[in-house]
Parts: sequence; C-alpha cells; structure tokens
Amino acid sequence: MAGESQIQDRVQAKREVRRIKNLPTVPGIVAKISRMVENPETSAAEVGRMISQDQVLSAKVLRMANSAFFGMSRKISSISQALVILGFDVVKGLVLTSSVFDMIQKSMAGLWEHSIGCAAASGAVATLLGRADAEEVLVAGLLHDLGKVVLALNLPEEMNLVKEKLKTGSLLFYEAESQVLDFDHCEVGQWLAEHWNLPETLAEPMRLHHRPEKAVVKPDCTAIVHVADIIIRAKGFGNAGDKLVPPVSMAAWETLGLRKTDFLPILEVLEPKLASLCDLTSIDN
Ligand SMILES: [Fe+2]
Ligand SMILES: [Fe+2]
Repeated sequence: MAGESQIQDRVQAKREVRRIKNLPTVPGIVAKISRMVENPETSAAEVGRMISQDQVLSAKVLRMANSAFFGMSRKISSISQALVILGFDVVKGLVLTSSVFDMIQKSMAGLWEHSIGCAAASGAVATLLGRADAEEVLVAGLLHDLGKVVLALNLPEEMNLVKEKLKTGSLLFYEAESQVLDFDHCEVGQWLAEHWNLPETLAEPMRLHHRPEKAVVKPDCTAIVHVADIIIRAKGFGNAGDKLVPPVSMAAWETLGLRKTDFLPILEVLEPKLASLCDLTSIDN
C-alpha cells in the first residue's frame, strides 16, 4: 500500500497537471477560432485568415492537409479551403497537434511518428468500414496520445520514473504512468479535450483508446483508434513509449464488426500511406 507521503506526492502531481492551463499559444488561437466559429456570421474565409496570420502554423496545417493522410485529389492551397473541404473539427485537430508537438524537443520524435502513424491507420480502418467521417476519425488518431506530450512537458521527473518502470518490458506506458502518478495520459487527454472544447468524436478516443469497452458516446470512433494504435505498434512505426503490442479488445472488435480477413485490406491501404508520410515525420518541419 502507498504510504502517506507517496499519496501526497500523487495528489501534488495531479494538481500540477490541473494547474497547467497555459499551454502557450495553443488555447489562445484555438479559443479565438472557436469563438469565431460559434458566431454564425463568421465565414470560413475569416477563420482561415485568422489561422493564416501565424504563417508557420498555417504552413504546417496545410502540409498535413495535403499529405497522404487525406489523399485529396486536388491541392488545398489555403486554410479557408481546408476548412470548407475538411471541416472545422479536423482543421482544429491539425492546429492543436501541430502546436502541441511544436513545444517538444526532438527526443519525442518517436511519439510524433506514432501519432501520425496512428492517424493514418485510423483513416485506413475508417475507409475500409466505408465511413463518411474518415477525416475526423483520422484526426482522433492524431490526437489520441497528446496527453503524453503534456505530461513530458510538465512532469519531467515523474516521466523519468515512468521510463525506469518501463525498463522491465512488462508494462504498457499508461500502466507505468498509473503506477507513478495514479493517473495516465488518457486522463490528461480528457482534460485537454474539455479545455479545448473538442467534440466527443475526438474526445472519447483520447480518453478511452486503451479501454474502448468503456466508450458510450462514440464507441465506434474509440474502437477504431484503439485498433489503429495496436496496428501501428505492430508495424513498428514510431514509438508509443513502450515496446509492447497489446491484444485488441474484443469489445472494440465486435463494435466494428471486423473480421480477421479485414487486416490485409487495411494494411494494403495503410502501407503506401506510411511510406509517403516521410515528409511529415520530422518535428522541425
Ligand atoms: Fe495511449
Ligand atoms: Fe498510442
């Protein structure tokens, strides 16, 4: 059983994370565009102009919008065009991911690769299932582990302890986080989603991608991100923080109605996408 001081440390760590509400620049720009979008008088062109003011950010968002992720037949040349074609939630997800990953160092390049790989795999599963919202599901895959970035930025010492625990090779990242902090990146993901006012299509997979059987609002999106996370771990693309490939949840499997024979067509869609995502794999871009 944890001693009193250990419990106090955990409470303190939790408080730390709650206190970190000033993710620099991210909520600022997102809050601004959220306010603009809530106003029915605002046009996509106006929101586009807002994001475009940050030239580096808008260039990154456009590069993702034009990457193999979405496989658009024509080039998206402006943020307002991206808003019309991909929708606000998708562009918001791209803005958030770019901004958050901007704050980290090259040491987390593996997590960035894991995230874009999981996004591509989520998109491949959604496409195979014939879903009309494949772009949104893809962005859910992109965002799913952002809680890990926030933890690395704000609780570096605790994360070193997590890394120590992972050396045994028998724990998943979230299990090691729970042992050290008594909470994990999924909980931080939930906090981020609330803070950024993300729709449940994006929020529930952030919260429950390791426990998809608990999903009630968007069990199908959560199940897709869960399966995609495991597929991309199995492919060895990027680094989720641990080296394990956990089993696919039966509940997720049944929710999606997937069959074993579906894996091959998923991989056929995914593999060429991964190969052409190389231009996105550098954090510095
Ligand atoms: Fe995760
Ligand atoms: Fe993951």
